Amino acid sequence: MTNLKILFTVIATLGVFTFVANVIPQVQSAVPEEIILTEDTTPEELAAIGAEVYAGVGGCTACHGLGTRAPDLVGVVGGTCTTRVEGQSCKDYLWESLVNPTAYIVEGFAPIMLDQSRTLDGAQLWTLVAFLESQGGEVTVTSDDFAAALAAADAPPPPPPAPVDPADIDPRQLMVAQGCLACHSFEGEGQQIGPPFEALRGLDPEYVLRGIVNPNADTASDFAAFAGTMPPTFGDLMSEAELSVLVEFFVTGGQ
Ligand code: HEC
Ligand code: HEC
Repeated sequence: MTNLKILFTVIATLGVFTFVANVIPQVQSAVPEEIILTEDTTPEELAAIGAEVYAGVGGCTACHGLGTRAPDLVGVVGGTCTTRVEGQSCKDYLWESLVNPTAYIVEGFAPIMLDQSRTLDGAQLWTLVAFLESQGGEVTVTSDDFAAALAAADAPPPPPPAPVDPADIDPRQLMVAQGCLACHSFEGEGQQIGPPFEALRGLDPEYVLRGIVNPNADTASDFAAFAGTMPPTFGDLMSEAELSVLVEFFVTGGQ
């Protein structure tokens, strides 16, 4: 079962390489299509796939290997990896360098490297670790590392949050928690960059809702000078239940 998952992931990974290699002309990568990751995959094979990720879809050479922006890795990092963080194995250090690059900043360089797990999956990251280890050291990545990475990737998505009872939502608390009072005032508290919330009383609920989730649709006439300052993200930050409780609160004036 695990082997099938690995096989599937690798095929998907290779598909992405092939695609990327084809759309980006300068990446002339000869994708090792025959390689299938199993418990028997040799360290050499892992490192070879990692080399492709490194030069291709990983985008590492945008910074590494040019001499100044980022440390050289090829030929050296498999040796220096054990000297960075005391007590950390090469494999752990390299993994951390990829997924939490600011945990240790190589002296003389700026912390510009991003968390690579945002763009690469667990299998790709492990082949990279194998490739980097092979640059002056011994590859110690095993199928156990992959199994964990793939199991995490395959974990079922967390269940949607239980629907919140609107009766439990406190609109005043929500206003504070969402930072509305940084720009609006209510009952004497808050700022006057946007209209005071008292002014929403009696307005059409749909208009008010639009004012929250799509603040640039209409501009409150007296506040045109500040049009565009209200973040358009509140519709994503609040649940539907929260939005409707808030709108209801505003149009009824909290009665
Ligand atoms: C935006 C530029 C940039 C990109 C892209 C980038 N890195 Fe880095 N990387 C850096 C910089 C700068 C450092 C040194 C500062 C630090 O430690 O964060 C670094 C550090 C590292 C280190 C630690 C090196 C050492 O000598 O200890 C590793 C390993 C590494 N990168 C691997 C990679 C891999 C693999 C990729 C591609 C998946 C990648 N990086 C992509 C900029 C980049
Ligand atoms: C960074 C400042 C800022 C924040 C934070 C902010 N707003 Fe606004 N808001 C404004 C400004 C300025 C306007 C008036 C200009 C406009 O309509 O775009 C406005 C307009 C509105 C309107 C439309 C009023 C009308 O009469 O047309 C509503 C409703 C509203 N905000 C609700 C909220 C709620 C609820 C929150 C918190 C979840 C919030 N705002 C957070 C600045 C802000």
